[in-house]
Amino acid sequence: MSIDERLANTSFPLPAIRQVNMAKHQTGISLGLGELKGFEIDERIKQSMTASWGNGAACYTQNAGLPQLRSAVAQHQQKEDGYNYTVENVIVTIGVQNAVYSSIKTLAKLGAKRVLIPSIHFGIYKKIPSEFGLEVNTYPLNDDFSINLKELEILLQKDDVMILNSPSNPTGKVYSKDELISLSELLKYKLTDGYVISDEIYGQLVYDGEEFTSFSKYFDRTIVVDGISKSGAVAGLRVGWVVTQNEKLAKAITSNNATVISTPPTPNQWAAIPVVNSETKNTIEKYNKVLLENRDKVAFFLEKMNIPFNKPNGSFYIFPKVSSFLGDRVKEFCIETAGKENGVVVIPGVAFGAPEYLRISLASFELEEGLVRLEKALKEWK
Ligand SMILES: Cc1ncc(COP(=O)(O)O)c(C=O)c1O
Repeated sequence: MSIDERLANTSFPLPAIRQVNMAKHQTGISLGLGELKGFEIDERIKQSMTASWGNGAACYTQNAGLPQLRSAVAQHQQKEDGYNYTVENVIVTIGVQNAVYSSIKTLAKLGAKRVLIPSIHFGIYKKIPSEFGLEVNTYPLNDDFSINLKELEILLQKDDVMILNSPSNPTGKVYSKDELISLSELLKYKLTDGYVISDEIYGQLVYDGEEFTSFSKYFDRTIVVDGISKSGAVAGLRVGWVVTQNEKLAKAITSNNATVISTPPTPNQWAAIPVVNSETKNTIEKYNKVLLENRDKVAFFLEKMNIPFNKPNGSFYIFPKVSSFLGDRVKEFCIETAGKENGVVVIPGVAFGAPEYLRISLASFELEEGLVRLEKALKEWK
């Protein structure tokens, strides 16, 4: 069969998130976004990018990225976990998606066989390993979205790759220090040859007294992936990074990433430096204030509607269990409601492996009207 014949017989279906977003009517309100759209962007980000034109912004950087940004990331990560990182431990990527992709690609080439992902997960955790022919298994979460350690212990093999995501998309769960320590104790004796990829992209978006701790503080064999898409409200700049204590692994990931991206865009790397250096801390505090207020509004709404949920303390999503309202037709509800005049976009849980739930984004300035519309749609749904 030729390429064109195969192409004619192959479909590349849109992910559920895209399907719902594409169904949105022009009068619709979106509570479906995965970014801080419309939030104030810190001036330091823009200034750093503008100033970079006098600093070689039109030129390539090294494959592993701009040394000044790598150095900032190394210092930032050292504050998190105490390890003495240098630029050699850091690879700049085109967003966290690229960081996950090249980490998994590298581990696959080094012989990894299996990736364990949370049962409720961001979609790429399943898709990327599958592209490299790796087996993907899910580890179960409890009803409060904590990890079921007993089940994980049974599941774990010593050379697995485990993906961890706290604060989580879509659950909003932030693992406490105690939870991370208990997990690390299990991994220290069970995951002796494997690695954890810890996706910490929402690490700065925590509220209600919550504190974020990087998992690398408790487990050396952690590959941290992080970026500025969420904490800088600049998802379109596409800057992320990988940090690992293993320099040889960092070199391998750099080499495997270079064949995909060559180097990340130079001006955007400069733009990331103030975020990594915590110069934009005050702006992030403003985001967290809005997110907390919005969380409380959604929590009030869900309580009123008698819909079960866990209160998130991080990221900007809330993930209620709506099956008592919608049965097994959550996705149909989301597509239909998005497409109606004066409708609202919310994302079906099936996009995250949890069909009984739906995801509501707290990052909206039209939240109240969105909830009015959601209430109407839920009540009208048959
Ligand atoms: C958990 C998680 N990881 C990674 C990403 C991708 O981030 P980036 O924009 O840096 O590629 C997202 C985006 O929604 C996310 O929610």
